[in-house]
Amino acid sequence: MPKKMVVIFGALNILWMVFAASQAFKIEISPESKIVAQIGASISLTCSTTGCESPSFSWRTQIDSPLNGKVKNEETMSTLIMDPVSFGNEHSYLCTATCGTSKAEKGIQVHVYSFPKDPEIHLSGPLEVGKPITVKCLVPDVYPFDRLEIEMWKGDRHLKNEEFLEPMETKSLETKSLEVTFTPTNEDTGKELACQAKLHIDEIDGEPRERETTKKLQVYISPKNTVISVNPSTRLQESGSVTMTCTSEGLPAPQIFWSKKLDNGSLQLLSENATLTLIAMRMEDSGIYVCEGVNLVGKNVKEVELIVQEKLFTVEISPGPQIAAQIGDSVVLTCGVTGCESPSFSWRTQTDSSLSGKVRSNGTTSTLTLSPVSFENEHSYLCTVTCGHKKKEKGIKVDVYSFSRDPEIEMSSLLVDGNLINISCKVPNVYPSDRLEIELLKGESIMKKKTFLVDGHKKSLETKSLEMTFIPTTEDTGKVLVCRAKLHIDEMEFELKQRQSTQTLHVNVAPRNTTILVPFSILEKGSSVNMTCSSNGLPAVNILWSRQLNNEDLQLSKNTILTLLSTKMENSGTYLCERINQAGISRKEVKLIIQIAPKDINLTAFPSESVKEGDTVTIFCTCGNVPQTWIILKKKAEAGDTVLKSTNGAYTIHKAQLEDAGVYECESKNEIGFQLTSITLDVKGRENNKDYFSPELLVLYCASSLMIPAIGMIIYFARKANMKGSYSLVEAQKSKV
Ligand SMILES: *[C@@H]1O[C@H](CO)[C@@H](O)[C@H](O)[C@H]1NC(C)=O
Ligand SMILES: *[C@@H]1O[C@H](CO)[C@@H](O)[C@H](O)[C@H]1NC(C)=O
Ligand SMILES: *[C@@H]1O[C@H](CO)[C@@H](O)[C@H](O)[C@H]1NC(C)=O
Ligand SMILES: *[C@@H]1O[C@H](CO)[C@@H](O)[C@H](O)[C@H]1NC(C)=O
Ligand SMILES: *[C@@H]1O[C@H](CO)[C@@H](O)[C@H](O)[C@H]1NC(C)=O
Ligand SMILES: *[C@@H]1O[C@H](CO)[C@@H](O)[C@H](O)[C@H]1NC(C)=O
Ligand SMILES: *[C@@H]1O[C@H](CO)[C@@H](O)[C@H](O)[C@H]1NC(C)=O
Repeated sequence: MPKKMVVIFGALNILWMVFAASQAFKIEISPESKIVAQIGASISLTCSTTGCESPSFSWRTQIDSPLNGKVKNEETMSTLIMDPVSFGNEHSYLCTATCGTSKAEKGIQVHVYSFPKDPEIHLSGPLEVGKPITVKCLVPDVYPFDRLEIEMWKGDRHLKNEEFLEPMETKSLETKSLEVTFTPTNEDTGKELACQAKLHIDEIDGEPRERETTKKLQVYISPKNTVISVNPSTRLQESGSVTMTCTSEGLPAPQIFWSKKLDNGSLQLLSENATLTLIAMRMEDSGIYVCEGVNLVGKNVKEVELIVQEKLFTVEISPGPQIAAQIGDSVVLTCGVTGCESPSFSWRTQTDSSLSGKVRSNGTTSTLTLSPVSFENEHSYLCTVTCGHKKKEKGIKVDVYSFSRDPEIEMSSLLVDGNLINISCKVPNVYPSDRLEIELLKGESIMKKKTFLVDGHKKSLETKSLEMTFIPTTEDTGKVLVCRAKLHIDEMEFELKQRQSTQTLHVNVAPRNTTILVPFSILEKGSSVNMTCSSNGLPAVNILWSRQLNNEDLQLSKNTILTLLSTKMENSGTYLCERINQAGISRKEVKLIIQIAPKDINLTAFPSESVKEGDTVTIFCTCGNVPQTWIILKKKAEAGDTVLKSTNGAYTIHKAQLEDAGVYECESKNEIGFQLTSITLDVKGRENNKDYFSPELLVLYCASSLMIPAIGMIIYFARKANMKGSYSLVEAQKSKV
């Protein structure tokens, strides 16, 4: 409790009482005896008299120091005005009034004080739970401070009080203070911190003797438990957005600051909002973001690292990095994008030539249609996709080819056993022909293989072929000839890289070894004959019988057997049998002779059969129906017969010698029969008149009776010939000789 102290100014007061000579003359002063005046205020002391009409007044201080006031006299009153009151006014003032000879005097004590302001409370810092704090209470401009008491309260708890009893050296206004240190707790919030200052001067009227200042306590909590939540993730894609919310606990509620940590470590303030939304993130926005929870008493920092990943949009081109497109076909190249909502497309060729195709783009795909595929499409096509400010390119190489038809097997002619044949395997409309390989196989075995070189740079469809010669045999029949064409474009897949054609071999056999079977080729007039023609060959052969006439062939029959009935002489001649099939033709001729037996043989000598040595004699031989050539003239001799060289059956002996005499024989024969006759030539010598001897008679005999039917012999020869499959007249004649 404040100690109440009453100081009686009277104890210090010296009462000046001067009694006036006249009872009637009286002096009064107001206020009475003393006044306590605040420095800076204004006071007036009034001295008044009674019992005198015009008194005179004088004022002075007891120690004769200056009045420090203004005097104002009015008939029976004098006023001393101090304005403003200062330390120079703390005196005992005397007012003397003189009325004639009478004098009256009254004194008054003036005390000064200063207590103009409420105390000031100063905290050394914000209040924080658990952290000692010093509170200072200042009481400014106090006088006299030895009367001052300062007291501090926290709520209803007294903290400290102090009096300032040390001696005052000088009169001055002083500021006094009281310091208290305490440790705040949570419960202190809301309590009042009070500072009471009291100036213990009872006489103070009107003005406060007690001043109090209060301060409501606010205890703070430094930010803590700062937490960042990131939505959707700290890892995001370019152009994506992220929302980060930061919370921090503390009292007062911390304010949130979002910043980004720069490379040099300094922070760049982004927001003062707890929720930070970042949109359209770029890769360079990656980095450490800092949330600071800040309040009066501190801050708490939390960091989060955001990683902005390059947006992965991908471009796919189909059907593949390289395709083979057949000329004339339709091919669609598709460029598709994933990871980009509205890409823009552009197509070009690597050599910047015209696209030669139709582009159609829709949403995330773009197609380039090449229809029909042509040589102009042999390019590397590039699809460029632009997504935002990013670009990506993918290429596809289009190789064109042409391989639309199966190979064609061609043979120069019919397959004939043993005949050389040219086989060609043709592959039409090929491109690129330098990738072509043609194989020709018989059954499983390769007969020939061929590849082709590039010829020039011109792009064109070409027809390539493989040729070979081949001699087929009958064993080849039934075997399969295969022409296989391969287009070696290994780098890529396409439907048909190989095409083949087959042909089953049928080897023909040309008719051969044609034979004509004739029982007799020389026939007696009137007889009949069957001539049979035969041969082998594949396929089956046709037969044509004809007879050769002078300038044309007379067709007779298409049967195997040609029958001649009751032959006439005119039937003699050459008969031809032709056997024909696709593979060839084979002919055989047979000479048929229709004869009659020789008769009427006539051998004569001219001029006579008896001549003289030195004469000329001609021997004639004729045989009715037989040509001269069939007549043989011989001279018989023991040593052997001499065949005479006759012309048309005539033989002339010039200058006949004795030795020319003898038997001359004429023979006419054919296959049917023969006749033989002879004469004897007589040559007479000329010596002893013998020269002129009549020539000896040449005995000419025409031995028709000796004619031997020869038919039996002919049959013999004919049979013999048949066994050999042919019959030759010449052979037969030779054998007979
Ligand atoms: C850090 O860099 C930024 C700009 O990049 C600059 O404004 C800032 O002054 C720098 N701070 C320091 C501490 O170098
Ligand atoms: C903080 O952000 C929220 C939502 O975005 C908004 O409603 C609020 O006004 C913002 N506060 C300040 C201080 O910007
Ligand atoms: C684009 O494609 C969508 C569906 O994929 C289709 O409905 C639309 O008709 C197409 N637009 C054009 C111009 O082809
Ligand atoms: C086969 O071809 C060669 C040369 O190419 C030619 O001389 C010959 O006559 C041809 N043979 C046939 C049967 O076509
Ligand atoms: C056919 O004639 C040829 C000669 O031309 C001969 O070598 C072959 O043996 C003959 N074949 C037959 C069955 O007579
Ligand atoms: C010829 O053949 C036919 C029938 O094949 C036969 O009737 C006839 O007697 C034959 N003629 C001769 C002369 O062999
Ligand atoms: C043979 O020929 C001669 C002369 O040409 C002729 O005089 C004679 O009559 C002939 N004899 C016969 C039998 O025909």
